[in-house]
Amino acid sequence: MEPFDLITERLILNQPHVEDIDDIAYYCADTEFEKYMATPWPYEREHAAEFVTGYVPDGWQSNKEWTWAIRERSMQVDNHNRAPLLGVVGVRLQTGMVGFWLGAKHRGNSYTAEALRTVVEAVFERTELETVKWECFVGNIASARVAEKAGFRYTGEALGTIPARDGSLKPSWTGAIDRNEPRVEKPGWLVTR
Ligand SMILES: CC(C)(COP(=O)(O)OP(=O)(O)OC[C@H]1O[C@@H](n2cnc3c(N)ncnc32)[C@H](O)[C@@H]1OP(=O)(O)O)[C@@H](O)C(=O)NCCC(=O)NCCS
Repeated sequence: MEPFDLITERLILNQPHVEDIDDIAYYCADTEFEKYMATPWPYEREHAAEFVTGYVPDGWQSNKEWTWAIRERSMQVDNHNRAPLLGVVGVRLQTGMVGFWLGAKHRGNSYTAEALRTVVEAVFERTELETVKWECFVGNIASARVAEKAGFRYTGEALGTIPARDGSLKPSWTGAIDRNEPRVEKPGWLVTR
């Protein structure tokens, strides 16, 4: 699949670029990532470089995973002069599972839910998937809030499907949104209260 951009009210989602490597390395060295993500730890610049030059383009090329950089639209000049990267959002096409992170200093603006909503629509428009899924390790309230605000239904606590850094499957909160489901916040998110 050829990478495509997505636009929301405040954001542009486009491809991570070698110029983003230092920002990605800095943001991913956050202790929240050690706790809640399966990304390497300690996170080094070489991990960010491999992510941008290998993992992301490989995912598009094989159509297994679509990944975008999240940037502020108002800062974007053109595709050669990119706005700074705020975070990353992606979806694995075999399972419909989304993933996301935002650099610590950009949190608290509901950017991720805004990005996630448009990713969900892109999946339903461009694939045959009937359901988009979300999961996070138990306790990651910020991630659960993002899924809740993006219109996912809470589907309970279960063993996660994405292996943690040590290869184990961890108790996880799970959510889903179906193709025909209204894109509104749903009741039932007791874990975020
Ligand atoms: C999860 C994450 C992407 C949320 O991004 P975001 O765009 O800041 O999300 P929101 O602005 O919608 O805030 C979501 C929740 O984060 C918390 N939050 C708000 N401001 C915050 C800040 N400045 N710093 C940290 N957390 C904050 C609040 O609990 C908020 O919920 P609320 O809307 O009820 O206040 C971000 O916290 C992150 O990158 N975390 C580390 C990586 C991670 O856990 N990714 C998900 C793996 S499943």
